[in-house]
Amino acid sequence: MTASSDRPIVFSGAQPTGQLTLGNYMGALRTWVRMQQDYDCIFCVVDLHALTVRQDPAQLRHHIFELTALYLACGIDPEQSTVFLQSHVAAHSELAWLLATFTQMGELERMTQFKDKAQQHQLNINAGLFTYPVLMAADILLYQTQRVPVGEDQKQHLELTRDVAVRFNGLYGPVFRVPEPLIGTDGVARVKDLQEPSKKMSKSAASELARVMLLDEPEAIVKKFKKAVTDTLGVIQYDEVNQPGVANLLNIWCAATGHSREEALNHFSHNQYGKLKMETAEAVNYLLQPIREKFLENINNQELLLKILTKGAAKARVRADQTLEKVWESIGLPIARR
Ligand code: TRP
Repeated sequence: MTASSDRPIVFSGAQPTGQLTLGNYMGALRTWVRMQQDYDCIFCVVDLHALTVRQDPAQLRHHIFELTALYLACGIDPEQSTVFLQSHVAAHSELAWLLATFTQMGELERMTQFKDKAQQHQLNINAGLFTYPVLMAADILLYQTQRVPVGEDQKQHLELTRDVAVRFNGLYGPVFRVPEPLIGTDGVARVKDLQEPSKKMSKSAASELARVMLLDEPEAIVKKFKKAVTDTLGVIQYDEVNQPGVANLLNIWCAATGHSREEALNHFSHNQYGKLKMETAEAVNYLLQPIREKFLENINNQELLLKILTKGAAKARVRADQTLEKVWESIGLPIARR
């Protein structure tokens, strides 16, 4: 199907800042893959966003190919969806500039992610870190996006995107479609940190044991689950408050096997934690093995990956430019003759 298809338009992106975790997969990427059936999906590798934190060039390049290969390995289909690199479509930067003039300093100052990142990177609080949400708004609005699958941490940015779109449309007419969030669809699991199960699993956790990476070797995965923090109660039941570690393992087992919570409790109720840990590790390995294999096939073929991204960018550019021209026209900028 093509851009003219009447399926609702979905846009999402991830930053190429290092491998994805099991949490990223179960909470986001897997849902993206499933959405391809019913939506006209646009999946972006948002390299320009990654630049808001200082990056080593060789490593950034590696991470861009790695994330692209992971998208494909997880089942994102570049024929069915549009897969591309943000920096390849100039309209993102161009619209971001224009939208910055419709965004107030005060609005950006209120963004909690900016406040957190400014804390973490005190020696490089660059203007890009501050205007990051404007670039994200441009990403979304360029494609007349209807739905944006986002986690809790990006909800505030999406709200801002909506505010800016509504403001712009109020001044110039209906140029942008106002996007809706897509949160908590079926099958989304919120995977927690294996060492501190009250927190969400994050790439940046201090301990490697805290997170399972999509490309971890099977033995490493077994080790991490064996060492997962549980509690001293010694009964397998679902209690997020008093037994967050056990609840997390149960959730992961369910997400990996497709079983319901009730089935999980029936299956494990008279067992020890050791069995829950081992079976969860096995289920995760079973789930990730084909992804790892496909990734290894793709990652060494950078020519192919670049070809896919180039083709994706060409598809994206046509759509993005349509919106950008509408914006120019509406604010009084003459469009150059081709
Ligand atoms: N800011 C998002 C994140 O860090 C990534 C992102 C950039 C994005 N542009 C987007 C997500 C547009 C959804 C839509 O997770």
